[in-house]
Amino acid sequence: MRGCSLKNALPLRTKSSFPVNDGPEPLRPLRARNPSSPQKSTRLKSTRLKSTPLKSTRLKSTRLKSTRQTHHARGHPMNVKRAVVEHPILEPLAERWSPYEFDPRPIDRATLFTCLEAARWAASSYNEQPWHFVVALREDTGDFAKMLGCLVEFNQGWAKDASALLLSVVARSFRKNGTPNRMAEHDLGLAMGNFSAQATALGVAVHQMAGFNPSQARHAWGIPEGFDPLTVVAVGYVRPPADPAAATARARRPFREFVFSGSWNRPWQ
Ligand SMILES: Cc1cc2nc3c(=O)[nH]c(=O)nc-3n(C[C@H](O)[C@H](O)[C@H](O)COP(=O)(O)O)c2cc1C
Repeated sequence: MRGCSLKNALPLRTKSSFPVNDGPEPLRPLRARNPSSPQKSTRLKSTRLKSTPLKSTRLKSTRLKSTRQTHHARGHPMNVKRAVVEHPILEPLAERWSPYEFDPRPIDRATLFTCLEAARWAASSYNEQPWHFVVALREDTGDFAKMLGCLVEFNQGWAKDASALLLSVVARSFRKNGTPNRMAEHDLGLAMGNFSAQATALGVAVHQMAGFNPSQARHAWGIPEGFDPLTVVAVGYVRPPADPAAATARARRPFREFVFSGSWNRPWQ
């Protein structure tokens, strides 16, 4: 991925991960597993595959593209904890997970900028875009150590191998009139969601952390009042697990516990 220009990094929507119809290759129907009978794979009607009427821009091949083509392969470390879904979802959402084992190698700026670009285009209340990110690349050893030093000990133990650490910082009030923005954290979360999905599509792993010292971070980067450090985010490449089969499955609450209709706690179905 090194040496790849941002310009070349732009054709990010390809058949392998997004439902766009930009080529002659037929899109595969999605499969979802029924969690009550995990062996059985249910073939679902593809509802997502109606393409957006966008004309795709085909740019010359890049290393980003080749990474994308390979990381969807079975057995790739990005895929060892793939979500077992009940309803079909976009590939990067199913593939995303928060690893504890990173391969300590650099990440190139174009890749990181592409993830930040995805974050930048998140929706936000009044288009306020209250998110901010402080970047510390592992090769910038002073900065990286400074950010690592803000983490709680447990997080330091594994985040030390990330390619980059990002401090996410939220602006608490609207720039226009200074009134409090009660959607600020919500919107930073949306931006991080975009960032993570984009990163996953590029074969890059993301692990967000609340376990750090916000006052230490504020002091270390001179973050003014009105802005609050919210998370530190480890970004990098998953180290292949010694035994992929031993990876514990990811779990999620059932829909009935969080999707309601009619009244609180009455499941929507
Ligand atoms: C805001 C936020 C804070 C988190 N803080 C930590 C943390 O301090 N340390 C850690 O090991 N994981 C942390 N995580 C990762 C979660 O534990 C993880 O996302 C969750 O277990 C679900 O696993 P998955 O991301 O692999 O699906 C955090 C995640 C989020 C979104």
